[in-house]
Amino acid sequence: MKIGIIGQGYVGLTISAFAGKDYDVVGFDNNSKIVNQLNLGISHIEGVASSTLQTLINNGRYLATTLGSQISDVDIVVIAVPTPLTRERKPDLTFIQAACKTIGENVKSPILVINESTSFPGTLRNYIKPAIEKYSSASIEHMYAISPERVDPGRMDFNQKNTPRLFAGLTPEASKLTRDFYSKFCDNLVEVSSPEVAEAAKLFENTFRQVNIALVNEFAQIAHSLGISVYETLEAANTKPYGFMKFTPSAGVGGHCIPVDPTYLAAVAEEHGAPATFIRRANAVNLEMSKYVVDRIQADNGGSLSGKCVLVVGIAYKPNVADIRETAAELVIQHLRERGAVVSWHDDVVGTWNSESSAPLSGADIAVVVTMHDSINPKDVIASAPYVFDTTGKLKGVHGL
Ligand SMILES: NC(=O)c1ccc[n+]([C@@H]2O[C@H](COP(=O)([O-])OP(=O)(O)OC[C@H]3O[C@@H](n4cnc5c(N)ncnc54)[C@H](O)[C@@H]3O)[C@@H](O)[C@H]2O)c1
Repeated sequence: MKIGIIGQGYVGLTISAFAGKDYDVVGFDNNSKIVNQLNLGISHIEGVASSTLQTLINNGRYLATTLGSQISDVDIVVIAVPTPLTRERKPDLTFIQAACKTIGENVKSPILVINESTSFPGTLRNYIKPAIEKYSSASIEHMYAISPERVDPGRMDFNQKNTPRLFAGLTPEASKLTRDFYSKFCDNLVEVSSPEVAEAAKLFENTFRQVNIALVNEFAQIAHSLGISVYETLEAANTKPYGFMKFTPSAGVGGHCIPVDPTYLAAVAEEHGAPATFIRRANAVNLEMSKYVVDRIQADNGGSLSGKCVLVVGIAYKPNVADIRETAAELVIQHLRERGAVVSWHDDVVGTWNSESSAPLSGADIAVVVTMHDSINPKDVIASAPYVFDTTGKLKGVHGL
């Protein structure tokens, strides 16, 4: 079987690496730089080793391409393209639309189309199917299924094999083929009664985290105002063996899953006249955390940050990845600069970002820790400035949430 995977980013390349053990994989991506690197066996994703890619290439199992014609004879196509928000923070399905155009224009016989991109309930049925049909010849009737991706890049304990995978087809045959496809590399497949349930479950999983993170971020502010340790209180609450799940405070949320996906759920809820109060409020609390952190630092430093050299430590949105999408560090830096601070950042995992490079971990007036990669030595952070504010709870003996 030949599998086409549209989008070779975090999700698409991860699936390519797993599927490549059993199938021939064509990884289609419209970024030629990524495609060229992949064909040289160089992975750009944490969690997919270059050696794995090289083995697949050597075995003739993997080819990356920018040419739609290369997917003309695939048996299954998987869509793994971005689903961001528009400037107005509304769901942006333009990448999905473009992927559908590629499929419709190039695939010449009926196949199974599986969407792994995260989107609101109804996307498969009401957007993807009609969009592909619009570009396909009238005689071709594809099958359609959804299997929302749950991958957590950089995570070692859960991967494609041992993370249960939800799926549903638009028809029983599509469901069966989807199960057959994933069962080669995933141990636990969970079929649900409709694509809409699978789409909604994915959004609800991420919304659950978003709301709980916002709650603990709000609680961090309450604890500080009461003069008690948020971390000690959370540890104490966590001794309850049931009915409590520990989340930890931070400078805000980043990546795609937490800042973006719940807004997809809120948008579709509001379109149907249902409230999305928690989601909207949680988003606001998480966004406001960066300002709260800078307010605290300013208050601790004589009420002014003007002219102070501030080093932001860790700008990736989470430890041990180079991903800076929606990172809270961006808002922290923005608030600091608006108050006249001279800001640089240290993050050797990211390296360069917004035409700036990672600065040495030393010589600052103030250091603000946003993300602690394993490669950062806590002692070096503590020595980098006379005042250190840690938003991660990982450093001992410094200021923090
Ligand atoms: N990254 C995660 O941890 C994660 C986890 C679960 C679900 N998801 C979801 O999976 C989807 C993909 O996310 P990602 O993190 O892999 O994104 P990504 O930005 O890492 O990768 C997307 C890739 O798609 C390519 N692309 C964009 N438009 C294209 C097109 N029309 N044709 C071909 N290639 C195209 C881009 O060049 C890029 O390489 C999103 O819906 C996201 O919400 C992501």
